[in-house]
Amino acid sequence: RRRREKRITRGNLAVNNAITRPEIDWSKLGFGLTETESMYIAECTIDGQWKVGSIHPYGNISVSPSAAVLNYGQGIFEGMKAFRTPEDEIVTFRPDENAKRFAEGAGRMSMPPVPKDIFEDAVKKVISANRDYVPPVGVGSLYIRPLLIGTGAILGLGPAPSYTFLIYVSPVASYFKGGQLSPIDLIVEEDYHRAAPGGTGSTKCVGNYSPVLKVQLQAKKEGFSDVIYLDAKENKYIEEVSSCNFFVVKGKTIATPALEGTILPGITRKSIIELARDKGYTVEERKVGLDEVLSADECFCTGTAVVVVPVGSVTHRGKKTVFCDGKIGATGQMLYDELTGIQQGRLKDTKGWIEHV
Ligand code: COI
Repeated sequence: RRRREKRITRGNLAVNNAITRPEIDWSKLGFGLTETESMYIAECTIDGQWKVGSIHPYGNISVSPSAAVLNYGQGIFEGMKAFRTPEDEIVTFRPDENAKRFAEGAGRMSMPPVPKDIFEDAVKKVISANRDYVPPVGVGSLYIRPLLIGTGAILGLGPAPSYTFLIYVSPVASYFKGGQLSPIDLIVEEDYHRAAPGGTGSTKCVGNYSPVLKVQLQAKKEGFSDVIYLDAKENKYIEEVSSCNFFVVKGKTIATPALEGTILPGITRKSIIELARDKGYTVEERKVGLDEVLSADECFCTGTAVVVVPVGSVTHRGKKTVFCDGKIGATGQMLYDELTGIQQGRLKDTKGWIEHV
């Protein structure tokens, strides 16, 4: 049955400028899941000897109810993107950085790290197998979601006896409603924290994300786009937003929370810091107080999914502070243009960030 469904999907492919693309209404693309043709799967036992995996039809996977990832959350994920360039080539952005973070995360969660060459080969294979799903130039990107999960069965607390490395993909466009550069309204959370010192805040482990939902859903009900978390120790310093890092601009100085173990070491964060320094800004990685945010010229967030998104307002204890009259600030706009220009092949990649597929 599955094979037949696949044939039907294939049968719906439309030819457009010699590229075969599935019939997706690209103008309606947001950040929802669009299932694609195939996914990549590799497996390994606790001895850590990964074998090169292969491409399978996209679909459900079967695991034991006693899989470590289901019971104890032994799992991590990554987020990365592939883009179609004006020359109709397909490129990825800094895949080596994702490979590195994935291996570090595996170590933190006591899982056998996927070697860099297997990781990068897997990313290329899954993109190639789904290249028709990379959106047309400038529309969005193909989001790539690598997972490393303890799939082996275990009852007592301990590392799983076996692991699955899986990558699935989905074409995506803007993460937040309202469009990519539409400013977001944030509320400061003081009662719940995202991460604590010594915890796993800097690891992309599966358990880091669902605890934010309780606060995020309430904020959305109140009309906010998302939540800013403060540090768990003093409840005073900015940590990050649920799915992205945070930046504050004052004149030619940009400040962003330092990587001290409780926030995600974003690859977009790292790239934006470098691009801003190239453009003559002083970028400080340090503690960023809430008071600084409320007196900033502009603020923006960064992440693979969100890219660079301007902050329109921050509400704290019922008081709303609006930035740039609720419009995108000049610094955020410039950094967005630089980053996406390189990612989408419109600007020369002088840094070796782009990898052809
Ligand atoms: C990403 O930005 O790629 C992430 O993994 C964040 C996720 C919550 C969408």
